[in-house]
Amino acid sequence: MVQADLVKKLLSSFKSNDKEGFIRAANEVIGDERKKNHHALADEMQSIINRGAQFPSKDMATLMASPGNSKVQPLLFQIIYPDKPLSHVVLSPVNKVKIEQIIREFHKWDLLKNNGVDPIRTALFYGPPGCGKTFTAQAIATEIEVPLLYVRFDAIVSSYLGETSGNIRKVFDYASNDRFVILFDEFDAIARSRNDQYEHGEIKRVVNAFLQQIDNFNSRSIIIAATNFEQSLDYAIWRRFDTTLKFDMPSDADRKYLFRLNIRRFAGAENAFDVFLPEMSDFTHNDVERIAVEVAKKLLIEGRKMYTKEDVEQAFTHQKELVSLRRTQYDSEG
Ligand SMILES: Nc1ncnc2c1ncn2[C@@H]1O[C@H](COP(=O)(O)OP(=O)(O)OP(=O)(O)O)[C@@H](O)[C@H]1O
Ligand SMILES: [Mg+2]
Repeated sequence: MVQADLVKKLLSSFKSNDKEGFIRAANEVIGDERKKNHHALADEMQSIINRGAQFPSKDMATLMASPGNSKVQPLLFQIIYPDKPLSHVVLSPVNKVKIEQIIREFHKWDLLKNNGVDPIRTALFYGPPGCGKTFTAQAIATEIEVPLLYVRFDAIVSSYLGETSGNIRKVFDYASNDRFVILFDEFDAIARSRNDQYEHGEIKRVVNAFLQQIDNFNSRSIIIAATNFEQSLDYAIWRRFDTTLKFDMPSDADRKYLFRLNIRRFAGAENAFDVFLPEMSDFTHNDVERIAVEVAKKLLIEGRKMYTKEDVEQAFTHQKELVSLRRTQYDSEG
């Protein structure tokens, strides 16, 4: 489309307060610049748009991908410029080695290719929610200094399954323009619909289309699929990934470290946090982080520099409620 039309689109969506329309038009402008090989300019524009951007919520991504809603175009992916150093991720020793290997091979891409071997291109992250799958993908993108192309797999698995393969193709077409960490998050979408006999055959085709696209994709990018429903992925899918990483619940030492990391601007009594560890066996990395953040916010608001056991206890109790709610829900889902 000619630039004048795009500018008109931008102006009219701005005027009518149509934020999604505005972002769509802006993305078209950016795509246009990329086609002209103006990557630096496109990156700059993209980072302006993404500044302060949040990951799309499940509802929004689903709404925007819904073909029934004729006014909205599918939002198939987001480009995010993460700023999460690997040093802020608590990883098991095994995962640390695997992640460092992915990063090292990315940096030696040409050397490896020129000598007839492929660097690690694909990884499957699996394990319970809140233990760092998405976070680690962001950290890898940060470390290798490329944008994260964030795809919610459940959003591209359209309710009209026939459209799904086309959606996947669009993502890879776009990704072939540049270097990315491509994260297919919530990869469970595939596994879940396996329970539905009606969809079973179609979903198989979708999975095959996805795996085929991965195989044919030659750009210098790392493709990560993340799921917390790994028991339903069959072996045929597992073995197609160059590497697989299990993200487990944190150990007590991890929890202590995470708490310190997230409250590092404040001092506190030595074991103010540790005394609650015996009751935290169900607490994920994310739960511990939330305790630290709640305490930190309280101190900031009250203008204090030191936290007490009572501060931690209050935040712990709040989080414990959420954890037991989750537990009940999980148990009732069987
Ligand atoms: N291993 C970790 N190290 C440090 N912080 C973590 C870790 N895991 C989770 N967190 C914190 O919790 C937040 C949520 O974690 P994340 O989104 O990575 O979980 P997930 O494994 O992708 O969960 P889900 O299966 O629900 O998608 C992160 O943004 C981060 O702040
Ligand atoms: Mg996640």
